[in-house]
Amino acid sequence: MDIKSGVEVLKQSEIVVAQGPNSGREGAEYDVVVPFLKWAGGKRWLTTAHPELLPAKFDRYIEPFLGSGAVFFHLKPKKALLADYNAELINAYEQLKSNWRRVAQALVRHQRNHSEEYYYRVRACKRRVDHEKAAQFIYLNRVCWNGLYRVNLRGEFNVPIGTKTSVLLPTDNFQRTSELLKSSRLVVSDFEPILDRANAGDFVFIDPPYVTRHNLNGFVKYNDKLFLWTDQERLCSAIERASSRGAMILITNANHESIRALYRRVGKQVILRRQSVLAADSANRSETTEVAVIINYEIGRGQKNDSGRFGQGPARRSISNPV
Ligand SMILES: C[S@@+](CC[C@H](N)C(=O)[O-])C[C@H]1O[C@@H](n2cnc3c(N)ncnc32)[C@H](O)[C@@H]1O
Repeated sequence: MDIKSGVEVLKQSEIVVAQGPNSGREGAEYDVVVPFLKWAGGKRWLTTAHPELLPAKFDRYIEPFLGSGAVFFHLKPKKALLADYNAELINAYEQLKSNWRRVAQALVRHQRNHSEEYYYRVRACKRRVDHEKAAQFIYLNRVCWNGLYRVNLRGEFNVPIGTKTSVLLPTDNFQRTSELLKSSRLVVSDFEPILDRANAGDFVFIDPPYVTRHNLNGFVKYNDKLFLWTDQERLCSAIERASSRGAMILITNANHESIRALYRRVGKQVILRRQSVLAADSANRSETTEVAVIINYEIGRGQKNDSGRFGQGPARRSISNPV
């Protein structure tokens, strides 16, 4: 670990890519629950490379920018408050929590019918039944271009078809996903009211859209609303309030001087190095960095990664693929 101007730099070990529950360690021997969505900025790599950044003990887990919930599925908390601005996304979680069999049945149907023509027909369709809406959301996420979520000004999903054709994945375990979600409260909300509920005993993981002062206008579009630099400042103020109430907080963000300056007096900053896994050959792999800010707890005493014991309970064998 290098220390540079008060900021720690963590070197990351090789990223483990999910292979499915029956290959290697993924889900075969350990209770590894793979997030059911592919999401821009997903943090599965963080749980694999830097589990020590997560605290060992807390009473309630709070995640106000849920996305694919990689950290939630890694920690498997006994009690959680999960939120996101995206109502379609939260509906998918709600339906997997309360109605996973019907969602799974609808996905089997989407798999059987999948074709380019079918994709665009489903994309244009307005479903009224919640479990059908959830299956449509998961179907589009899995076969659209790069798992991207983008809507037009009318709020309609407009991402073209991608190259992937698997609607059902070997890593799917909707029954276990449902069990984990049973003790979670799911809310469609802006981050601020959620953070305002955080108190001592809570652990809050905060992974906002990565907007820096450099791209002031907030060109990063995750939803039908832009996340602006003023939102980053509003987020930082809400974090300071939660911090003063004693909540343990981990924030991840772009490693940019504007972000480092914003959080300078808020918590301990750690730079995370990350190897891009997009290129197959090592010569073409590039390194990127992100910044983590840790508040109200010590790092290095917490979680282990998925290769052994981790989360809040002992490792368990997973239930076989219920789809
Ligand atoms: C970087 S992603 C989170 C990724 C997540 N950590 C994962 O592992 O997949 C950011 C999320 O913030 C949500 N979001 C954007 N603006 C928001 C806001 N103002 N309040 C709450 N959620 C918001 C987006 O819908 C998106 O799911």
